[in-house]
Amino acid sequence: MDIYSNRSTFKLVIIIFALLIGGISVVYTNSMVSKLAEREKKLIDLAAKGYKEIAGMEFTSSQGFLFREIIAANNSIPVILTDGQGTILSYRNFDVPEGMDTKNTDAFFKKQLEEMRAEYKPIPIEIAGLKQFIYYKNSTLIRQLKFYPYLQLAVIGLFILMGYLAFSLSRNAEQNRVWVGLAKETAHQLGTPISSLLAWAEYLRTKPEIMNEGIVDEMDKDIQRLLMITARFSSIGSEQKTELIDLVEVVETAVSYLRSRVSQKVNITVSVKQDVGEEVLAYINRPLFDWVIENICKNAVDAMAGAGKLDIEITELPEGNVQMDITDTGKGIPKNQFKRVFEPGFTTKKRGWGLGLTLARRIIEQYHKGKIFVKWSEPGKGTTFRIMLRN
Ligand SMILES: Nc1ncnc2c1ncn2[C@@H]1O[C@H](COP(=O)(O)OP(=O)(O)O)[C@@H](O)[C@H]1O
Ligand SMILES: [Mg+2]
Repeated sequence: MDIYSNRSTFKLVIIIFALLIGGISVVYTNSMVSKLAEREKKLIDLAAKGYKEIAGMEFTSSQGFLFREIIAANNSIPVILTDGQGTILSYRNFDVPEGMDTKNTDAFFKKQLEEMRAEYKPIPIEIAGLKQFIYYKNSTLIRQLKFYPYLQLAVIGLFILMGYLAFSLSRNAEQNRVWVGLAKETAHQLGTPISSLLAWAEYLRTKPEIMNEGIVDEMDKDIQRLLMITARFSSIGSEQKTELIDLVEVVETAVSYLRSRVSQKVNITVSVKQDVGEEVLAYINRPLFDWVIENICKNAVDAMAGAGKLDIEITELPEGNVQMDITDTGKGIPKNQFKRVFEPGFTTKKRGWGLGLTLARRIIEQYHKGKIFVKWSEPGKGTTFRIMLRN
């Protein structure tokens, strides 16, 4: 089973499995408890009969003594013998706290009697015309046994939680290694052809007929772009610092680059909401943040099928945060996919890789200590992605 992509099914299977084990354990223990309770009841009945029998023969003996003797075989079930008025004649298998005074002891047994009455009907016996009652309740063993399945359930739950945490931690570590390794490798591999291209461009500059047509300048632009891509890849593969710079300027620059490359029918605007000045400062790593803007805007353009409105709104919040909303008028995202769109490999496009938003999230969360999420979306109406940065 592919547990990476079927994670929710996997979780469901584990939960069902845990519930099944818990359920079986509860049912099994309960049947055991009721069997044991049945046995304890029989034991008391038997004791009561024996008590009646002996008392009938030898009613000169001290009843308390007899009671104790007969019930001596029982050293787990708590029992109390009372007379017809409810006065305690004898008891067995109680943990009376040491050093308890008479008043408290009385209160203690009164409470016990009440509890016992609620649990089982007392067994009436008649000895020499005198009514007596044997009160009893389940032994501590049964009481503890009743809690056992819940304890078991808690332990199973804990195990599953720990297993799940270990699994997701190791998965994250694995993903991290893949990201970093792949990014470094890409940057490294791009390095050689780019330096070669730079040298070729230099050489072409010495040829006036080519130089004059502006070809070298165009080539230079492409080489600069390649250098920037390399910088991005090598940045994502290593620790990166952020600096306090103007977010508005960063966005304007990135957007103006995009405007020249997307269809004329996509209208991109940038607006700023703040109290003073034109700047909104935030901690940004420029090459990486540019990448985020590009990814999100490209997705938006894809979602609008080449025509619509793309609004970027930057707001400075009082709590030291900067908020950036990117709203498109595209096809929207169903609510149950708000989180999934960030998962690696999730794509609805024929030629998609499903890595754009994963990368964006990684850049925002790991390198900027910020947040990115789908703020709003309605199928057919549009989508708002929100990015939160610190300033
Ligand atoms: N602005 C948007 N409007 C609608 N759907 C979107 C938008 N942005 C992302 N998505 C959805 O999220 C998926 C994942 O996006 P992404 O990670 O960039 O991968 P890719 O673009 O390769 O599909 C897209 O395939 C699309 O279904
Ligand atoms: Mg994308």
